[in-house]
This record gives sequence, C-alpha cells and structure tokens, in this order.
Amino acid sequence: MCDTRGDGRLVYDITVEQFGHTFDCAENETILSAALRNRVFLRYGCQHGGCGACKVRLVDGDVELTASSYALPPRERDAGAILVCQSYPVEDCVIDVAEMQLGAEEFFRGDGAVARATVLESVESLTPNVRRVVLRHPDRPMAFVAGQFVNVTVPGHAVARSYSMANGSADTDRIELICKMMPGGLFSRYVDEQARPGDELIVNGPYGLMAIRLSHRDIVMVAGGAGLAPLLAMLTDLADKRSTNRGVTLFFGARSTADLYALAEIAALQDQLPALTFVPVLQAPPPGWTGAVGVVTDALAAHSTVWSSHDAYLCGPPGMVDAARDLLVDRGVRPQNVYADAFVCTGETPAP
Ligand SMILES: Cc1cc2nc3c(=O)[nH]c(=O)nc-3n(C[C@H](O)[C@H](O)[C@H](O)COP(=O)(O)OP(=O)(O)OC[C@H]3O[C@@H](n4cnc5c(N)ncnc54)[C@H](O)[C@@H]3O)c2cc1C
Ligand code: FES
Repeated sequence: MCDTRGDGRLVYDITVEQFGHTFDCAENETILSAALRNRVFLRYGCQHGGCGACKVRLVDGDVELTASSYALPPRERDAGAILVCQSYPVEDCVIDVAEMQLGAEEFFRGDGAVARATVLESVESLTPNVRRVVLRHPDRPMAFVAGQFVNVTVPGHAVARSYSMANGSADTDRIELICKMMPGGLFSRYVDEQARPGDELIVNGPYGLMAIRLSHRDIVMVAGGAGLAPLLAMLTDLADKRSTNRGVTLFFGARSTADLYALAEIAALQDQLPALTFVPVLQAPPPGWTGAVGVVTDALAAHSTVWSSHDAYLCGPPGMVDAARDLLVDRGVRPQNVYADAFVCTGETPAP
C-alpha cells in the first residue's frame, strides 16, 4: 500500500507476481534499484534503457517511464511492457517477470554482481575513432560468455558505460574492449585524454544474453563500427572450440578502408574456421576497391546466399541493427533466430 517514509517521501509496494513477493520502492527510485536494495534479483544490464534485459510486464498499477527508449518501442510499451531500470512507480504495482526466466532461487538470492577492480593494460588506436582497451583482472578471473558486456565506471564519475568483450571466453584474466570514441563522450574523453597503463577501472558484469545459440543452422553476422567486438568474441570461441562446421558469413560495414580494423585477426580466424566468409562493406571505397560498396544492408541484400535458414547476430548502431533485422526477416529469417545488441549511447538515447 502507498505510504510515506520518515522523510515524507512516498513509498509504493511492488509485487512480483511469479513469486508472490512484495518490496518497497520510494518515489524517485527505479523499480530495479528498489529490488536490488531489497536484496531480490531482477535481471538487468546497461541500466540506461539500452539493452532491454530488464523488460517486464506491468500487470497492475502505473509507472512513470523516463524518456523513450530504444529497447522499448511504443508497440511493446502499449502492450504493457516496461523497463524496470527506467520505471518510477506512481502507485502500487504488480509486475510479471516471466520474460526474465528467473527461478525462485535466483530471485531470492539477490544481486550476485560485484564490482571488481581491473587494471588498465593498454590503449591502442585501431582507426581514427576506435580504440582497443585492454583491462587485466589482478586478483580473480572473470568468467563470461562470448557476446556479453560489462559496465565500466568512468574514472572520476559515478556513471558507467557498457562495452562488449571482444576477446574469447577462454581469457578469464583479461577483458578486451573495442570502444568507439564519441565526441564529447565521458568515457571516450577519459580513454583519449587521461588513460594511463596501471589506472584502476571498476567493472561490473558480465551482463547480457547475446551468445552463440546451439543450432544446426548457418550463421550470418552483421557488424557496424565497434559492433564487431562481440562478434569477434563469438568467432574466437567457435574457433577455439573447433565445435562447428556451420557456415558463417561476417559482414563488416565501415565508411572507408581507414575505418576497417582487426583484419589480421579475422584472417587468422578464417584459417581456423574454413567455413567463415568475410565481407567488408565500404561506403566510400578507394579507387580500385573490388569489394562490396554501400551500407551494410545493401551488401546483405545483394549477396547471393539465401538467408532464410540462417541464425543472425547483429551488432552496432541502432539504425543499422534495425535495418539489418528488417531486411533479414523480410528475406525469411525467423524473428526468433535474430539476436541483436544495439550500441545505444548512454549520453544520448535515440527515440524509437
Ligand atoms: C549492451 C551494450 C553494449 C555496448 N557495447 C559497446 C562496445 O563494445 N563498443 C562501443 O564502442 N560501444 C558500445 N556500446 C555503446 C556505448 O556504451 C555508448 O556509446 C557509450 O555511451 C559511450 O560512452 P561515452 O561516455 O564515451 O559517451 P557518452 O557520454 O555516453 O556520450 C555519447 C554521445 O552522446 C552525446 N551526449 C552526451 N550527453 C548528452 C545529452 N545529455 N544530450 C544529448 N547528447 C548527449 C555525447 O556528445 C556523445 O556524442 C554498447 C552499448 C550497449 C547498450
Ligand atoms: S538494464 Fe534496463 S534496458 Fe538495460
């Protein structure tokens, strides 16, 4: 029941339908923060409306949602979905967390994520605006699934930014990130202007459900810019485990040859994965370029492969991810076989 705290702030009851459990949530507190404060667990990732991991259904009550979010298109919002990391209750609420696939044990165990201190090993320029940032775990290893991401606290600020691991999951003692430098971006400015080997960076995670799904279907991967990161991690795992003879076609969209990177790594992966086809796509090709030209979806559409029996993994800017998803679904890929991470900015969340 709606109540007030000693400080006069309103407090609402949030009931999780599946577990018949109620916790309190103050006004100006998100349902996610309240759940974690009350030591119950709701799935989450980026905590800024970008990844969709915290989506639930509002069964009863009402919330104020922060600005429109890429991960919650109007169609889903109208159907009752909310992101608990972006939802402030305005009355008592009942939520259905079925989409999170949480067991009672996981729910009542609370948040297992712990902040870990990492040490910055190196920053390398891969293109004029993409850096490879390597962090090392000094104390204990971090297990993760290729495709997942971490939230890195921006040194000197109480905010975090999401970045996907670009290395394979066998590397439990280090994290390799591929970071696009956003003009004026907080973490970008740290990387380009202040970062020094030996700096301590606080990392939370791993988060996210992006991962290679077991299947007999061939795979199409589409990356734009830094979106190559989780796909490189997945390909590294496929190569390390030599567990597949599935055909894999990797499209990598970039503006010019200067924006292509990790080409030697991709060539090495092709040695280990003979069924890997690499298709770089340039919007502004140099004279003599014989490869694919245009935006990455032009190359997908023009390619001779029939995509309908493929699993698709898409990663990069939201516009590219949406366009590639629409095209592949239009070409017969089943929507449930499309797995995507849109690299939504924290500083600037695009409207759906
Ligand atoms: C699940 C997930 C995984 C991701 N993985 C990666 C990855 O592997 N590699 C990668 O490069 N990116 C990744 N991203 C995206 C990355 O987290 C964002 O680009 C991040 O915001 C960059 O942080 P920043 O501090 O450098 O820039 P921010 O401070 O977030 O700023 C981003 C941009 O927004 C502008 N801006 C800032 N504040 C405002 C404001 N108030 N109003 C309008 N504009 C503003 C800035 O000028 C800048 O151009 C991922 C995102 C998600 C959700
Ligand atoms: S944790 Fe809520 S959208 Fe990512």
